[in-house]
Amino acid sequence: MILLLVICISILFYYFLFRVWIYVSEVKHRVRIESAIRENEENLRITLNSIGDAVISTDENGNIKRMNSAAENITGWLSKESLGKSLTEIFTIFDPSTGVKSENPFLQIVRSGKTLEISDLAILFDKKGVEKKISRTAAPILDMSGKIVGVVIVFRDISEKIRIEEQLRQSQKMDLIGRLTGGVAHDFNNMLAGILSASEVLELKSGNDEKSMKFITFIKDTALKASGLTQQLLNFSRKGVRVSENVDVHNSITMAVDILRHSISPDIKILIEFNAVKSVVSGDASQLQSIILNLVINARDAMPDGGEVVIKTGNLILNPDFCTKTGFTIDPGLYIKISVSDTGSGISDDLKSKIFEPFFTTKSAGDGTGLGLSIVYGNVKDHNGAIEVSNGEPAGTVFDIYLPVVENVVWKKEKDSAIITGKGTVLVVEDEFILRSITESILSDLGYRVLIAENGEAGLGLFSSNFHQIDVVLMDIVMPVMGGVEALKLFKQIDSSAVVYLISGNIENLEIDEVMSYGASGILQKPLAITELSRVVSEGVLRKTGIQPAE
Ligand SMILES: Nc1ncnc2c1ncn2[C@@H]1O[C@H](COP(=O)(O)OP(=O)(O)OP(=O)(O)O)[C@@H](O)[C@H]1O
Ligand SMILES: [Mg+2]
Repeated sequence: MILLLVICISILFYYFLFRVWIYVSEVKHRVRIESAIRENEENLRITLNSIGDAVISTDENGNIKRMNSAAENITGWLSKESLGKSLTEIFTIFDPSTGVKSENPFLQIVRSGKTLEISDLAILFDKKGVEKKISRTAAPILDMSGKIVGVVIVFRDISEKIRIEEQLRQSQKMDLIGRLTGGVAHDFNNMLAGILSASEVLELKSGNDEKSMKFITFIKDTALKASGLTQQLLNFSRKGVRVSENVDVHNSITMAVDILRHSISPDIKILIEFNAVKSVVSGDASQLQSIILNLVINARDAMPDGGEVVIKTGNLILNPDFCTKTGFTIDPGLYIKISVSDTGSGISDDLKSKIFEPFFTTKSAGDGTGLGLSIVYGNVKDHNGAIEVSNGEPAGTVFDIYLPVVENVVWKKEKDSAIITGKGTVLVVEDEFILRSITESILSDLGYRVLIAENGEAGLGLFSSNFHQIDVVLMDIVMPVMGGVEALKLFKQIDSSAVVYLISGNIENLEIDEVMSYGASGILQKPLAITELSRVVSEGVLRKTGIQPAE
C-alpha cells in the first residue's frame, strides 16, 4: 500500500517537473521570438529612416501603419500621431494644373492590384498647409496567398528641383530674348540715325518756313525719344558698352540716390544703411547705378501715397548650396548683399516669376515699358551676381542682390560700423576650402590670430596642443573623417571651458537642444554675414577671457 503511494507521488512529482520544464521552454521560446521580432522591427525602422525617400505604409483598410522620418519631414506629421489615421488625412494630393484632388492611392491600388508608377508631379499640403511638389510611386503589400493587405507609398519633395529648373528655363528665355532684342535694336538704331540725319538736312533746306519747321522738329523729337528707347533695349541685351573696373557699390548707391532725391516726391523717404565692409566689386559703375535707379523708381511707383525705401548693404559668405539655390551660375565666396525694400503694394506670388521678363509691366501704356527689371537682371548677371525678390515685412517688396566682391581691398574701420574688430586666437574647423580660407582672411583682417583645420580630427590635433591659447572655435557640423558634434564632445573633455560655436547649413534639421547639451556656445546658420561673424567671435572672446573687444 505504502509502496503504491510512493509510486503515485513519484509519478505526480515527475509529471509536475515535466510540466514546469515544458512551461519554461515555451517562455524561453516566446522570449526568443519576441526579441527576434523586436530586432527585426528595429532593423526595419533603422533601414526606413536611412532612406532619403519618404515611405508610408497602410493596413488593408487604408489606415497608416508606419512612416519613416523623411515622410515626417515632408508631411509635417509625426509617425506616432499618424499611426491608425486614414491615409487621406495625412497624404491628400492635388493635380497641380487643375487643382483638383487626386484619387487616394490606396483605393487606386486596391482597384488595380498593381504598382502605380506615377510620373507626373502632385501637390501635397503638409500639416501646416505649406505646399510641396512631390513625385511618388505606390505599390500593394501582398501576403503569402497574394491577397492585398496594405499599400506602400514612396515619395520625395521635388519643390526645390522644380524651382531651380524653372529659374534655369527663365534665364535661358531671357538670354534668347536678349539676343533677339539686341539684333532688332541694333538695326532699328541705324534706321533712326538715318531718319535723324534726313530731318536735319530738311531743317537746313526748309529755310524759315514755319509750318515745315514744326513738322521737322516733331520728326526729330520723336526720333530722339525712339533712340532713347533703343538705348534701353541695347542695354537690356547687353550690347551696350561695358567697362570692368573696381567700383565701390556704396558710391554707386550714393550717386543714384542723389539723382533720385531730386525727382522723387518728399512723401517717399529713402534711407541708406551701409553695413558692408568689403563693398568693391569688379564691374561697370553706370550699370550698378542703373540697378539702383530702376529698383528705387519701381518702389516709388508702388507707393503712390508715399512710404519708405530702405537700401541696405552687408557682407556675406555664400556657400555652394546657397549658390545653387539662387538658380544663377555663381561661385561660392565673399559677396556684398544689396537689399532694396519698400513699403508699397507688394508683388503677388504669380507675378514674381514674370517681372524680370522684358516688356512685362502692370503699368498703363506710357507709364512703363516693362524693361526696367529685365535691365537690372541682365546687369546683375553681368556682374556674376544673383537677384531674388520676396515679400516685405509686414508689406511691400524686397529685392536682394548678391555681387561677388573684390578681395584684398583694405577694410574700412568706421567707428559706427557694425563690424567689431578684436584680439585673440580663433580655431576655424571647416572642410570646404573656400569657406575656410575666406573665414581665415576675414578674421585675420579683424585682428585675430587664426588656426585652421579641414575636419574634426585635424581640429582636435590643433586644439589639444594649443587649447591654452585658443579663445574661440568655429566649427562646421557636417565634415568628413570627424564631424563637428563628435569633435565638440572631445574638445570639451580636453577643456571644459572651451567656447565652441557650431556652424550648420541646415539648422532646421538639427537637434538643437541635444547639440547644446554637449556644451556648444551657440549654433550659427550658414551663410554667415560678416557683421554676425565679427559679433559672435568678439562675444566668444569675451566669454573666454572677459576682455572687451577693441574700440
Ligand atoms: N517695388 C515694386 N513693388 C511692386 N511692384 C513692382 C515693384 N517693382 C516692380 N514691380 C512690378 O514689376 C513690373 C515690371 O517692372 P519693370 O521695372 O520691369 O517695368 P515697369 O516699371 O513696369 O516699366 P519701366 O521700368 O520700363 O518703366 C512692374 O510693372 C510692377 O508691376
Ligand atoms: Mg520699372
